[in-house]
Amino acid sequence: MKALTEYKIKNMVLKNRIVMPPMCMYSSDERGFVKDFHKIHYTSRAIGGVGLIIVEATGVVPNGRITSRDLGIWSDDHIEGLKSLVESVKAYGSKIAIQLAHAGRKCTSNDEYIVAPSPLRFSEEYRVPRELTVEEIKGLVKSFRDAALRAYKAGFDAIEIHGAHGYLIHEFLSPLTNKRTDEYGGSLENRTRFLKEILLAVKEVWPKDKPILLRVSADDYMEGGINKEEMVKIINEVKEYIDMVHVSTGGLISVRFPIFPGYQISHSETIKRECNIPTIAVGLINELDQIEEILYNNRADLVAIGRGLLRDPHFVLNMAYKNRLKMKYPTQYERGYY
Ligand SMILES: Cc1cc2nc3c(=O)[nH]c(=O)nc-3n(C[C@H](O)[C@H](O)[C@H](O)COP(=O)(O)O)c2cc1C
Repeated sequence: MKALTEYKIKNMVLKNRIVMPPMCMYSSDERGFVKDFHKIHYTSRAIGGVGLIIVEATGVVPNGRITSRDLGIWSDDHIEGLKSLVESVKAYGSKIAIQLAHAGRKCTSNDEYIVAPSPLRFSEEYRVPRELTVEEIKGLVKSFRDAALRAYKAGFDAIEIHGAHGYLIHEFLSPLTNKRTDEYGGSLENRTRFLKEILLAVKEVWPKDKPILLRVSADDYMEGGINKEEMVKIINEVKEYIDMVHVSTGGLISVRFPIFPGYQISHSETIKRECNIPTIAVGLINELDQIEEILYNNRADLVAIGRGLLRDPHFVLNMAYKNRLKMKYPTQYERGYY
């Protein structure tokens, strides 16, 4: 069984291959601070045996939040709360990463205005974003850099740059939302420029021995948008600056697409093979058989369980128990296994 085997990437050693993917809890306050809820929520999953916990989308600037109740990392005042969250999770043997995010045109907070590569709104319920100037783009690159430095100061083991789900970076990557005619739009190289600049800036402050993850949507599910093959080219443009790709799909535009168990695994498999880079597979993966199939067939290196971990913080403990897998249960819970 591979699910519960160790995995090392850079200096980060995970005790197993199960990841909690970032999931917004919309439970902060207007200032984006960590609350008791966050500590209890993430620490429960650490006690529950998850190998790597990735903290939800955390705004690098206020109008980069998805909602007014997202976590924030835009000021040094955020470090203290994040640090106590990190310490709490680490005390129970999980590694912890944070997803650095900018919501772009999908920001719904009460900030004065919202921004995007081009002034196209997501839907009628959303505001029309203001097109970013080149100077503002440079400013946002710095915001990601500053956020990475704060994440380092808070003690995170890894960072994940949110390049998926129709948020700002994805909006730059896809021709459907990026209609710019300057050096940030047009060719694939130009559309990837913002992401590349962010990664380069982050690398200036993020320690070399800690991994940088990139979350992508490898399919826009629409003609003219990103598909698997295009995403392979994008990853190849930035591969030297990242250590692992967390492969999701969708979110750029409102379209219905087929959702079935493991609906995004083939995307992970293609990126892993074609870009020769470690990946995390995610999306309706809930059974040990599925996890083993993915890992043994080299379709991903790690497997993320999202909603399954919302339903059951002890997903890993219960999976081990049901299948009689050898696992170190938390000392306090040993009587639950034997
Ligand atoms: C409540 C909720 C919040 C989410 N928030 C985020 C987020 O902050 N960042 C992100 O990249 N994905 C987010 N996602 C997507 C999940 O990380 C995951 O990719 C998705 O739920 C599919 O995996 P699952 O079928 O195992 O739940 C969220 C999903 C849910 C259910």
